[in-house]
Amino acid sequence: MLNRIVEYIGAWCGFGLLPRMDKDETQRLPEQGSARWPRAVALSIAHQETRLHVAENEQSARGEKCEGVAHSCWGLHSLRVPNPFTTLPLLIECRRLKEIHSSDVYTRMGLRRPGMRQPMHILQNQVCVVTGAARGIGRAIAEEFVIEGARVVAADIDLPEMEKTAEELRRRGAEILPLEVDVSDEASVARMVKMAGDKFGAIDVLVNNAGIYPRHKFEETTLEQWERVQSVNVRGCFLCSRAVLPSFKQQGKGKIINLSSVTFWVGQPANLVHYIASKGGVIGFTRSLAHDLGGLNIQVNAISPGGVETEEEKKYATPEQVAAVVALQSLKRRVSPRDIARTTVFLASSDSDIITGQTINVDGGWAMH
Ligand SMILES: NC(=O)c1ccc[n+]([C@@H]2O[C@H](COP(=O)([O-])OP(=O)(O)OC[C@H]3O[C@@H](n4cnc5c(N)ncnc54)[C@H](O)[C@@H]3O)[C@@H](O)[C@H]2O)c1
Repeated sequence: MLNRIVEYIGAWCGFGLLPRMDKDETQRLPEQGSARWPRAVALSIAHQETRLHVAENEQSARGEKCEGVAHSCWGLHSLRVPNPFTTLPLLIECRRLKEIHSSDVYTRMGLRRPGMRQPMHILQNQVCVVTGAARGIGRAIAEEFVIEGARVVAADIDLPEMEKTAEELRRRGAEILPLEVDVSDEASVARMVKMAGDKFGAIDVLVNNAGIYPRHKFEETTLEQWERVQSVNVRGCFLCSRAVLPSFKQQGKGKIINLSSVTFWVGQPANLVHYIASKGGVIGFTRSLAHDLGGLNIQVNAISPGGVETEEEKKYATPEQVAAVVALQSLKRRVSPRDIARTTVFLASSDSDIITGQTINVDGGWAMH
């Protein structure tokens, strides 16, 4: 009863009280840190004590900017607090932090705010394959899928990096299977789908994210360079989509989400003809496949990201070029990998069941159509 009263007060303070803690969860969530979740609240439990971390530093341990409270509360949905009184100081601290959006916190933690619908994880138990998941946008998609309750098959050509990423997510409670795949190779893709099925059962969602964008001057582009970009970016979508089809048919449903690029709509003077041609191919593939598979209750959609703040982008784009892109956007901030990932969650979820054959620009309003 006392618990309920304090929960109610806490809820109206803008934060929630968490129910009882048990030993397992104490062990599973040791000292998760302020370094990883800067400028926001991180709770951790050690030795039956609840602690609140408030980091000063804007840079996270991974060297990326913290993207707000959603990340700060990553993995905390099963966190427990021993008794109501330990929570009161937290409520007061949390109230002081302007960055906190309480509804986000509630959703992430699986808590119920008085008068609100019980939050749900919208991909609960869905088996989702994400290609190119070791870093960048693919990694953000895998993270958001895990947060939403999915079991994730995370595939990448770079196995060591993929395993590192998977290990980090696993420590935070993820059900994740890291696999080595070359999406342009038929046998490799077949192996990925077989191992995914053996581990998690039928596949529900495929995200064709793996892609490469080396810069080559048009007149100097070799046939081999041209073919490599087409084979990863377009053939990869074909091979992976065809390979998951038996699984989708077995279930009577399925979702395919392809990563295109806003450069297809705007063209881009950046030695990217081979790449932009491939991303146009992805949109054509999306539209025609949506027609072909609609009768099987399979949705096929694409996302065209704008200039996204990834490590790979830093290799190619100077700060001046990045600033020029932001100047072209309607919204004057960088597009983050998480922006793309949240749109992917929507397209993977039943909330988008009537949407197919579409390409959504997630680009801060750079291109419009
Ligand atoms: N970053 C951007 O600004 C941007 C903009 C528009 C579109 N996109 C698209 O989004 C997707 C992800 O881009 P990113 O910036 O995160 O790239 P990234 O280079 O950071 O990550 C791509 C991942 O794909 C993996 N990969 C490469 N070739 C592969 C292959 N043959 N098989 C399996 N995995 C392979 C890489 O190892 C890497 O981990 C790509 O399709 C890209 O074209 C990115």
